[in-house]
Amino acid sequence: MRKRIQVNQLRVGMFVEDVELGGHSTASQFNPFLVSSATEIRRITASHVMSVVIDIAKGVDVDRAVPSLAQDHQAGFNGRLLTVFSASEISQARRAIGEIGPHLQQVLADARIRSSFANDSAGSAVERIMATTFENAGALIAVAKLKEKDEVTFLHSLAVSALMVTFGRSLGHCEDDVRLLGLGGLVHDLGKVLLPETILTKTGKLSAEEMELVRGHPERGYKMVAAAGEVPAQVLDVCRYHHEKIDGSGYPGRLLGRKIPYVARLAAICDVYEALTTIRPYKRAFSQAEAIKMMMNSPGHFDGKLLSAFVSKMVISGTLH
Ligand SMILES: [Fe+2]
Repeated sequence: MRKRIQVNQLRVGMFVEDVELGGHSTASQFNPFLVSSATEIRRITASHVMSVVIDIAKGVDVDRAVPSLAQDHQAGFNGRLLTVFSASEISQARRAIGEIGPHLQQVLADARIRSSFANDSAGSAVERIMATTFENAGALIAVAKLKEKDEVTFLHSLAVSALMVTFGRSLGHCEDDVRLLGLGGLVHDLGKVLLPETILTKTGKLSAEEMELVRGHPERGYKMVAAAGEVPAQVLDVCRYHHEKIDGSGYPGRLLGRKIPYVARLAAICDVYEALTTIRPYKRAFSQAEAIKMMMNSPGHFDGKLLSAFVSKMVISGTLH
């Protein structure tokens, strides 16, 4: 099957049937070929070609050329991890998750059983996340992508925390501020652990009442964390406002633009990115490119400047995979 694509979508492994100048075929003598190197891509890019026709029956499709950690679901996940990270980076990330586990599980259990916030355990988890992301942020976030049913909340909280720490550092924030971002990421969905299991694991459409309960999680989480006392305002803001949208259509406060606290605008980007690229056993994940495209095409949802910074400092820089 032939498909017309932009030149910047060309990847090694694609079968080029034709090249086009200004949307028209160039010459009848063009010899179709399989792209085998980056040099060939650069040659085409430099030749004023505007679009290319590829045959996806003879080569790879758009977004399929480069191994993506979120391409399918879990099948082959470990193999794809090894194409991006070394075995020691992966085992270091897994070890870190194992060490963060007991602290974070304590935070989740206290919230679920006692409706209380285990401040000290959260602090210990964040310290470990901060130390690991210093050396190995990409691997930690990548390893946390694959989530079994009972690990979803645990690994999502951990990964959003790691994303916020890494994004915060890339924006030049000091380590004290980065710690608050990490803590905010860790507890942003704490209000969700109070929801009935049937709602959390439901795959079909939620009823109006169920939806109402879900939409109450930022406020419930905020109250629970605030009740612990001495929790910094930034952490509470992440909890309460991470579902606000820049155009004022979010919840719970329908806050508009900069009325949404900075930390919550930053959290919204990390939270949605992590959710879109999460791999679950029976659910296809979006690739990094798909997720970014969807987020860029959601005007009114995110802080545009922060989203551009996320794309350049976290994606284009190669931090995330
Ligand atoms: Fe949430």
